[in-house]
Amino acid sequence: MNRQHDTVVILDFGAINSQAAAKVVRALEIYCEVLPCTADAARIAALEPRAIVLQRGPECGAATLGREPAADPAAFGVPVLDLDGLPCDESALRPFLLDRCGLKRDWTVESFVEEAVAGIRETVGDRGALLAMSGGVDSSVCAVLAHRALGERLTCVFVDHGLMRKDEPAEICRVFGDRFGIPLRHVEAEGRFLARLAGVTDPERKRMIIGEEFIRVFEEEARAAGAPEFLVQGTIYPDIIESGLDGGKPVKAHHNVGGLPERIGFAGLVEPLKYLFKDEVRKVALALGLPPSIAMRQPFPGPGLGVRCIGEITGEKLDILREADAVFREAVAEAGLETEAGQYFAVLTGNRSVGVADDARTYGYTVALRAVATSDFMTARFVKMPMEVLEAVSERITAAVPQVGRVVYDITNKPPATIEWE
Ligand code: XMP
Repeated sequence: MNRQHDTVVILDFGAINSQAAAKVVRALEIYCEVLPCTADAARIAALEPRAIVLQRGPECGAATLGREPAADPAAFGVPVLDLDGLPCDESALRPFLLDRCGLKRDWTVESFVEEAVAGIRETVGDRGALLAMSGGVDSSVCAVLAHRALGERLTCVFVDHGLMRKDEPAEICRVFGDRFGIPLRHVEAEGRFLARLAGVTDPERKRMIIGEEFIRVFEEEARAAGAPEFLVQGTIYPDIIESGLDGGKPVKAHHNVGGLPERIGFAGLVEPLKYLFKDEVRKVALALGLPPSIAMRQPFPGPGLGVRCIGEITGEKLDILREADAVFREAVAEAGLETEAGQYFAVLTGNRSVGVADDARTYGYTVALRAVATSDFMTARFVKMPMEVLEAVSERITAAVPQVGRVVYDITNKPPATIEWE
């Protein structure tokens, strides 16, 4: 909720593109929130909307939440635009919001930063807060905002579970410690994670163990830091919309919504990014001076390389995977394909195959490369990477990582495959 700006309420009827209208409105620097069409009048009124947009999702046919909103949009005394049959882009929304409603375009990156910092100060007061730094853009932006708001009353914990990509832990420490002067408690926990993962091959068990161990380490660190009262978390708007926590349809459960705070027993949660979309978080990151390597960082799953190392995880296999993955990512960047490929990485498959090197038989690992283009990670297409790039990557990986005997490229879309292999 944001009373300092003119607010547009978008009522979503369960359209598959439920975030589309919100993104167009936000791009016009006008604040908006998405509510399910089942929201009652009190919930809509609480946002004090200056305009209401009904988003039925023209290209996806039947809306899943029904055809009629629970509250009569006309009852709020503000202009209403029904997007039924209209293209969900600027051409319909711009004239409505600017000419008809005369809304102020003041929801900018600068205003967001200022208000987020003030909001954190107001919530936490003179108490303390804890933040789990993953190195991803969301927790990084949270760290900078919370540090601005709280200074030394913020404790940032970075749990290095040994499942990060090449050089990432060092970069995280360099950026936050050296450049931003944010003290980071760097917990080197690789040993205990690998010990608990020894012999485990089932992907869901791996996830469970990594998640549990993460909470355990984090609990210990929270106690060591004198148990700060608040937890700062990088929840973003799609997490809320897609998890159905706003009363809309649940699409998929997100790992960072719920769970952690209840278990650790914090007095409160601070979620400064909970009304931002990912591209907005990236803009804020750049405005705060975070390097592009963090601001534009591709999503990386919580269980990290643990679910990209098929079968049993060992330190040796992780090292091989890290090297191959680094070569691939570098090649994608050199070829200028980073924007097209929303996510790209190497997988150390459980397969070994026969090869030949220096006139002798080898029996090396098979590395699979995956690069996908996606707008929402719910569906994805494999990137049609130029053959020359793939050939060069294959040569570079087999030369740099002698344990790898074969390199293959994954040409499966999602569905039927998922993005990750495990
Ligand atoms: P899939 O493999 O389901 O992945 O197509 C969709 C997106 O989710 C990420 N992913 C995860 N993220 N914990 C996470 O935090 C997980 O266990 C997990 N599994 C998949 C994946 O990287 C992709 O962006």
